[in-house]
Amino acid sequence: MQVAATTSLPADTDVDTVAVAVFDGEEIAHDTPGKALQSLLDSGEARTKPRALALAHAGGKRWLLVGMGSREKFTAETARAAAAVAQGRIAELGATALCWELPHHVGPEIAEALVEGTLLAAYRFERYHAQDEDSPPPPQLERLLVSGHDDLSEAVERARIVSEAVCAARDLQNTPSNDMTPAALATRARALADEIDGLTVEVEGRDGLLARKMGSFAAVAQGSDEEPALITMRYHGPGASGPVLGLVGKAVTFDTGGISLKPGLKMSEMKFDMSGGATVVEAVGAIARLALPVSIVAVVGATENMPSGHAVKPGDIVRASNGVTIEVNNTDAEGRLVLADCLVHARALGAERLVDLATLTGAILVTLGHTHAGLMSNDDDWAAQVTAAGETTGEITWRLPLHSEYADAVKGQYGDLNNAPEDRLAGSIVAAEFLHRFAEDTPWVHLDIAGTAWGMKRPYAAKGGSGFGVRLLVQLARTLA
Ligand code: BES
Ligand code: MN
Ligand code: ZN
Repeated sequence: MQVAATTSLPADTDVDTVAVAVFDGEEIAHDTPGKALQSLLDSGEARTKPRALALAHAGGKRWLLVGMGSREKFTAETARAAAAVAQGRIAELGATALCWELPHHVGPEIAEALVEGTLLAAYRFERYHAQDEDSPPPPQLERLLVSGHDDLSEAVERARIVSEAVCAARDLQNTPSNDMTPAALATRARALADEIDGLTVEVEGRDGLLARKMGSFAAVAQGSDEEPALITMRYHGPGASGPVLGLVGKAVTFDTGGISLKPGLKMSEMKFDMSGGATVVEAVGAIARLALPVSIVAVVGATENMPSGHAVKPGDIVRASNGVTIEVNNTDAEGRLVLADCLVHARALGAERLVDLATLTGAILVTLGHTHAGLMSNDDDWAAQVTAAGETTGEITWRLPLHSEYADAVKGQYGDLNNAPEDRLAGSIVAAEFLHRFAEDTPWVHLDIAGTAWGMKRPYAAKGGSGFGVRLLVQLARTLA
């Protein structure tokens, strides 16, 4: 989609549809000559409650009044959700060019939210559907303008780049595991590095894992015939001076559970178990496209988790690259095994602040549903900074505690650690304490996105993969810059 900012009034642009925000107790700022919009409000047909929609026709254009509620409660998330609802109606109407009028008295972050809400809601994943020759696809939105009194081009362009990265992450997530192999994810990372200045990528396979003595990651990969991929991306932005940001992503392209096989119900959803890795790859791409002045080292661990004659077995003891030994009591607790070596690697490559994203535990779904991601951290300031980035983007997190008693649960009987204590108590926290042993005292945030990576119930998050975390990571990089 073509996206641009304009300082022309919407009426003077060549779009077919204009969207205008309406607030409680406020009149229309720029009406049509015949006062078509104010009359809709006055008659009660248009309402100001959040996400209410009303339609008018005037001056050869379609006008959509979009309720935003009260000014006091108005946030970027209100705008994002309302823009997404508006996009749904606009799609039904067959509009091809839309102009959003930026409300008065708001900052550029609202322009960003309007672009995000529109682009994220317009996302479709249709590459596996046959084209119906008899009924051509309905017209789609091709052009989006945001009109404001001031120049909004920077905010609008940033929102376009970031939204496209979210949609690219969703494509990676939604692609089934027979096509979205570890090698395919690595190919996407390479394509980004080829295209974007200052971004480099290195991909290592099974031999690389073994050479690096990543026995923990390699143990997960050994059951699969697919070649695993250790994907390392590096970006050094112009004028970067802050701490090196280390981003780590779990990319299990399919999680069967391995020998500790999962039950069949909804197992197909385990194609989404690479969501953390998809988010990291696309977020780094967006940060580099925006040329943000930060330094990043990103490590994505990609593999399948399969049962087979050469799969790791319950009770096997493996050695991670930092020398720590792990009893693999449950082969379905594979994410932490992959991340352990990736965290060690990111630190060895100079990461000074860590964020890992992983669809790590079913328990986080029980705790927080599809609304908040679980956040666990060894550093209050870093946790607050990551939380704040998510508040800004609507990718909200909720912190759960770490404690030495939880850490005790991952102590091993025959090795240093065990990957899955039998009692399963505090499952998400115990998983985080396992990772903590590899992050050590580097300021680190673990985001458990098992509830938010797909199935989110936001107007701008379509069915399927949500791309959760892409916008948060870009925002975090902006606050580091
Ligand atoms: N990928 C799963 C976690 C998951 C489950 C994500 C459901 C989304 C929906 C992870 O690898 C896993 O299987 N975790 C186990 C850990 C347990 C064996 C300690 C879990 O949560 O059951
Ligand atoms: Mn698993
Ligand atoms: Zn998994």
